[in-house]
Amino acid sequence: MRENDLRELLEDMSLKEKIGQLTQLDASCFNDEGPVTGPASALGIAEEDIFLCGSVLGSAGAAETEALQRMCMAKQPHGIPLLLMADIINGYKTIFPIPLAQGCSFDPQVAHKSAEIMAKEAAVAGLHVTFAPMVDLVRDARWGRVMESTGEDPYLNSLMAAAMVQGIQGNEKNYQDRLAACTKHFAAYGAPIAGKEYNNVELSDRSLREDHLPSYKAAVDAGSAMMMTSFNTIDRVPATANKYLMRQILREEMGFDGVLISDWNAVGELIEHGVAENPHQAAELAISAGVDMDMMSGCYMRGLEQLVQQGIISEQLIDESVWRLLQLKNHIGLFENPFRSASDLKELEMILSEGHRQAAREIAAKTFVLLKNEEKILPLEHNDSVAFIGPYIEEKTILGAWSFFGRAEDCISIREAIEARGVQAEYEQGCSILNPGQALYGFRYNTENKFTESEIDKMIIAAVGLAAKRDKVVLALGESNLHTGEGGSRGDIAIPDIQNKLLDAVYEVNKNIIVLVFAGRPLDIRDIKEKAKAILYVWMPGTEGGNAIADTIYGDFVPQAKLSMSLPYSVGQVPVFYSEMRTGRHTEDGAEPTNRFLTKYCDIPNDPLYPFGFGLSYTDFAISPIRLSSNKLTMDTMVKATVTVKNCGSREGTETVQLYIRDDYASVARPTRELKGIRQIRLAPGNEVEVDFEIDASMLRFYDINMEYRAQPGDFTVWIGNDSKTENKACFTLV
Ligand code: BGC
Repeated sequence: MRENDLRELLEDMSLKEKIGQLTQLDASCFNDEGPVTGPASALGIAEEDIFLCGSVLGSAGAAETEALQRMCMAKQPHGIPLLLMADIINGYKTIFPIPLAQGCSFDPQVAHKSAEIMAKEAAVAGLHVTFAPMVDLVRDARWGRVMESTGEDPYLNSLMAAAMVQGIQGNEKNYQDRLAACTKHFAAYGAPIAGKEYNNVELSDRSLREDHLPSYKAAVDAGSAMMMTSFNTIDRVPATANKYLMRQILREEMGFDGVLISDWNAVGELIEHGVAENPHQAAELAISAGVDMDMMSGCYMRGLEQLVQQGIISEQLIDESVWRLLQLKNHIGLFENPFRSASDLKELEMILSEGHRQAAREIAAKTFVLLKNEEKILPLEHNDSVAFIGPYIEEKTILGAWSFFGRAEDCISIREAIEARGVQAEYEQGCSILNPGQALYGFRYNTENKFTESEIDKMIIAAVGLAAKRDKVVLALGESNLHTGEGGSRGDIAIPDIQNKLLDAVYEVNKNIIVLVFAGRPLDIRDIKEKAKAILYVWMPGTEGGNAIADTIYGDFVPQAKLSMSLPYSVGQVPVFYSEMRTGRHTEDGAEPTNRFLTKYCDIPNDPLYPFGFGLSYTDFAISPIRLSSNKLTMDTMVKATVTVKNCGSREGTETVQLYIRDDYASVARPTRELKGIRQIRLAPGNEVEVDFEIDASMLRFYDINMEYRAQPGDFTVWIGNDSKTENKACFTLV
């Protein structure tokens, strides 16, 4: 539609109709015959107003979305099409590894490819927008939603955020055959106090801007069409009512001109937060802060009309938001074709196609982190005598907590993958995922341990019998899918006790144990580290998880992933992250053990069990000392930092070389080191290559004592290595 026609449309709309456009309802408000009054009336929305809504979330499938679109357009006074949105996070039906695992690839191409495939599948299923990517920086492993982020580091997250937005939206101006991205959750939702879901966030402005905001900015710069607010407060102001965040930072400073939607009922929750007394006031606060659309609270429908009539807010404020939404609908071509790419034929052809499955398999393998491999017990040989044991050997609920449309039955389990390879192996479940009597409650399903203690004892006995007969044991353990995701905060981040019991029992009879860890977060795996010879952290690997695991443990794929989040020694360290700030009494593990008065614990180490950036390969890489092109850098020159990387092992493999920098002295305290560059190289055995990083002053900027974002002259330390603990360093001065 031409812009003039769109303007005319806006001018012709009644106030009520405009407010309807700004309201998003859930698919449960409709069925084949018409509106379902229950859910809408719970939001205070009258039956005759349901069809005024501008957007619906959670409906999917070409036939379903077409029918819904047709029905709603017929009833909308101007026939304005709905914007159809859903949570397509790590896949539509072909499910990729969870985003935290994708972060471990350290490869934006991985994020791009999976985002592209999920967007293509969801587009033919009739969707227009996905509530993704989630780019919240995460450092607290207790929080269930760490699985939806790409990790603890602003630089890595920014690369991944941009790649995901580009993968979702594609290169066509109108996101043809793809989706529009709705980046979330603005802002700092990943820093709830004590890792507790929906908890308040207390951050300094410096930490907000330096650590948390860069990934949202990267998504905005990559062209994210939409943004979602977060549930949390920042500086005691709920994000959804936070003018400083939305109007100043997001719109003015970052230049975001897309549509801003609240999170689910976040406008209504302003009342629970205690900053609004009623739905009217909640609506006033949210629209004034710049929130264009109200997801599932009904407050806009209930309050805005009256607020305009009473002159509390202007109709122009509402027009601005409606205009942004109409522009988006127009941009993606809904006025010309309200069904866009929806096609049941293409659904059949494309969804879970061989190509998509193959991509999911390759991508999953690139996210598995090899944490330990004593005596090079991995990879296995096809004729090795192996027992496959554990509750995850046949488990198919390995898609991650957000795969609304992905189905467990489409997944390949480890057992199926091993059998398909024709390997002679035996299998035992060993125990359940949860402890006896344990139950977890989810949004779409619950899980309950169905076995009694004596049944599990028998399972353990059978597993021990099998382990004793075989040379090696592959033990697939982990937390439950329902331990992770929204509402999945945990106070204990170990695997359930019953699985530790299984590990102990197997260890009694066989010391050649390879543990596969299924998880949505960094778990406390101290016991596993002690007993296993090898540990492969496989996260929630998605539809092709079993095949990707088989490819990796049998050596067709050489592991290359690196941790995108530090793996804590124990929950007491959390939040633990590599770029912590220096203190007046900073110390390294092992230094001055008798000095009590240092920044450390007196009962556990300071270092995580495995640091950010760490991950082994089946081959070995050696990284030479750093050569700097100069030890002086000016504000407009650059210094080249070079290392030689050699594959000294016997397998071809990929190494991720990481550049870290520290500002040694500055006007405010600075992190111990910060990731500033990544290079991925593939090398055949015996080969070597020079790897360069160009360092310039723009990479050294920070918010100084006056909150000016600039580089400050002085000394800097640079490290280049293959994890965040590398001691391979050199120094230069910025003059
Ligand atoms: C979540 C969002 C999600 C929305 C819609 C909320 O509970 O916080 O991330 O996009 O629901 O499903």
